[in-house]
Amino acid sequence: MLLLRHCRGLTRVGLLKTQRVQLLHGAVLPVAVCAGSLCARWGSSHGGHESGQYQRRNGPNWRHALAGLLAGTGAVLAYGLHHSQTDLAATTIVQPIAPASSLPIYTQDEVTKHRSVEEGVWVTYKGSVYDITEFVSMHPGGDKILLAAGGALEPFWALYAVHSQDHVLEILSEYKVGELSAEDRRKQQSVKSTDPYSTDPERHPALRINSLKPFNAEPPPEILSDNYITPSAIFFKRNHLPVPQVDPKSYRLQVEGLPGGAPLRLSLEELKTRFPKHTITATLQCAGNRRSEMNKVKQVKGLNWGIAAISNATWSGARLKDVLLAAGYRPEVARQTSHVQFEGLDSDVTGTTYGASIPLNKAVSEEGDVLLAYQMNGEDLPADHGYPVRVVVPGTVGARNVKWLGKIIVSEEESSSHWQQNDYKGFSPATDWDTVDFKSAPAIQELPIQSAITQPAEGAVVERSAEEVTVKGYAWSGGGREVVRVDVSLDGGRTWQVAQLLSSEKGQVPAPSPPPGRAWAWKLWELTAPLPPAAQELEIVCKAVDNSYNMQPDSVAPIWNLRGVLSNAWHRVKVTVKEDEGEQRLL
Ligand code: MTE
Repeated sequence: MLLLRHCRGLTRVGLLKTQRVQLLHGAVLPVAVCAGSLCARWGSSHGGHESGQYQRRNGPNWRHALAGLLAGTGAVLAYGLHHSQTDLAATTIVQPIAPASSLPIYTQDEVTKHRSVEEGVWVTYKGSVYDITEFVSMHPGGDKILLAAGGALEPFWALYAVHSQDHVLEILSEYKVGELSAEDRRKQQSVKSTDPYSTDPERHPALRINSLKPFNAEPPPEILSDNYITPSAIFFKRNHLPVPQVDPKSYRLQVEGLPGGAPLRLSLEELKTRFPKHTITATLQCAGNRRSEMNKVKQVKGLNWGIAAISNATWSGARLKDVLLAAGYRPEVARQTSHVQFEGLDSDVTGTTYGASIPLNKAVSEEGDVLLAYQMNGEDLPADHGYPVRVVVPGTVGARNVKWLGKIIVSEEESSSHWQQNDYKGFSPATDWDTVDFKSAPAIQELPIQSAITQPAEGAVVERSAEEVTVKGYAWSGGGREVVRVDVSLDGGRTWQVAQLLSSEKGQVPAPSPPPGRAWAWKLWELTAPLPPAAQELEIVCKAVDNSYNMQPDSVAPIWNLRGVLSNAWHRVKVTVKEDEGEQRLL
């Protein structure tokens, strides 16, 4: 069948390898393919998967767009994406290529010879052979695609589950050059492709899953505010990569970058016994919490988190400060170094690990309470939350709370990790993927004031006969700033009432104050108020105030940003008031 594609840039691009092969085999008429259109469709398929639409394809910032996007789905770093100069707007029909029977049969040995751009890049997928040489420079995941060169795609697509989509197969089909020999097909089938997520732990069925591989999920909001301390099983989970399997016996935590020669290497046992155990209650919040509200204003990149990418737990472990002192930290060190970097033990197919850093002064401050935590809610850390050791940086965005901690590096530089450099940063609503310069914005550390309504849910029905409505939620601020007040409105923000703050497990009222600057834990809050007479719909709104008198912005649009982070506008929930039948007849 004919492969037909309309592309305004037609004259500027050559025939792709597939078409050349088709010519050689005389199976089809040659029709040029717009190289950029493949790229564009690839982009939209990624975007459509879980991270929204990507609109513009040209220019260097396309790389950032995909980097951020792929980071959210498990892929990482180093995207050397081709800048297509082609106008991509007019792409239309895609048809299957040639009947399989007209294509040549290749052995695995022949495929294996094609492992470089010079020799050609061939891959196999489900028994077919593809020459993807031309596509390498357009791959949104950069030259990582070369890892599969000369072999099967299946193990890599298992890691980057974003590929499991029709659009991606459709793109691949255009590069088909032959079939794998029956013998090699049999051999391939007998080798089970390993799913790097197959050892991920079991998860609680109540969690609302945002992405399965890597696993990202949040609890239903109404459950979230039932507990001041979030049970570990339903604590939100944010993984960029497969959960690593760490043997606690051979585990070693390495601390580098301090004067005094060799790095310090600590076993789990040493971490637990050489340093005093310190316990804090701290809330973790993902930078993308409430991103779905930004998506309603304009599509952003990233997982579509609701209001529950936030949870509260007790954490126990050694103070980072104590471990740094044992590794040779002295106040003079602060003259040459400003950052403490963390590396996780979770890695992608290239061996690149998750990483982040925090300012040195937070790391070494007595009041900073940064922990190398080995317990969560009184038990060993669960696998999803960083077993055996994670950093807990209270008051700081979730991304810096590195799980499955393998290495600590005291350095002059911030972490060079993708997540520190090219993600988790805030921008103006005016910045788009064509203009964004990630170097121009600081990495998010302390988070702004936040609150949200957990009950009633959007669209809930309140009976008029109940005469009152109870509203519940959470409030928290970054940097140890204490939430001092939550205001609730039942009429869209025209009039306000002050909610009751409940903090601590016992739901004490009034909430006791934490030490100044160390309010690491959220406050749950509640308001029971009479139903406004005659109102048929309530627009319930909440906003919190912290002890620096920081308040939430009233609407989302002015704080919209392309990655959908720092979404902390007043939270609004609409509910219907159901009149009693008798009342309805009177109306
Ligand atoms: N640490 C490692 N090693 N790998 C990760 O993917 N995700 C980070 C952070 N630490 C991550 C990590 C992000 S973005 C967040 S919001 C928190 O972990 C989430 O922690 P949780 O899964 O325990 O809730």
